[in-house]
Amino acid sequence: MKTRDITQIALMTALIIALAFVPAIPVAIIPVPIVLQNFGIMLAGLLLGGKKGTISVALLMVMVAVGLPVLTGGHGGAISFIGPSGGYLLSWLLMPSLMALTNKLLGRFFQRNSFTNLLLTSIIVSIVITYLIAIVWISVQSHITLTQSLLANMIFAPGDILKAIIAVFIAKRLLPIINKNA
Ligand code: BTN
Repeated sequence: MKTRDITQIALMTALIIALAFVPAIPVAIIPVPIVLQNFGIMLAGLLLGGKKGTISVALLMVMVAVGLPVLTGGHGGAISFIGPSGGYLLSWLLMPSLMALTNKLLGRFFQRNSFTNLLLTSIIVSIVITYLIAIVWISVQSHITLTQSLLANMIFAPGDILKAIIAVFIAKRLLPIINKNA
């Protein structure tokens, strides 16, 4: 790994932490808030790919585990992994490598790193797969049915689709620069 790679990883982790300063919006029907940090996780997958993206998110998770206040609203600690948001946090760690895989698989139908490919990749991974993990997690953790959990999680869909669209626009602008200097 080169100095440039380490710099990109560190900057991405710093960006995700900076997004924690944007206040969470509590949602009455589910004990998980609307946050902007998952937008940073989408960017990690889109801009850094599977390996570097995963390292940048893993660094965040290590900081959470040791109790640093790096999650939205300044919370952290290992307890975060077993709370209602635990499923989301797990999916954040998986997201960059799942995005890289989906981008590759969709490459059979849509050119890799095309707008369509990146947008479908972002929606499939950061919304469909992530929500599936979180829906099961919240259902077990909060003792509600899978249907109740599914319906409650849908509150996040409009905002997360918007975040995915914006993240893909940013990725389309930055990927040529990142890849040119690679
Ligand atoms: C935490 O700060 O403990 C994690 C919060 C996770 C919130 C999830 S991310 C996907 C979905 N979209 C949102 O805006 N909020 C939830």
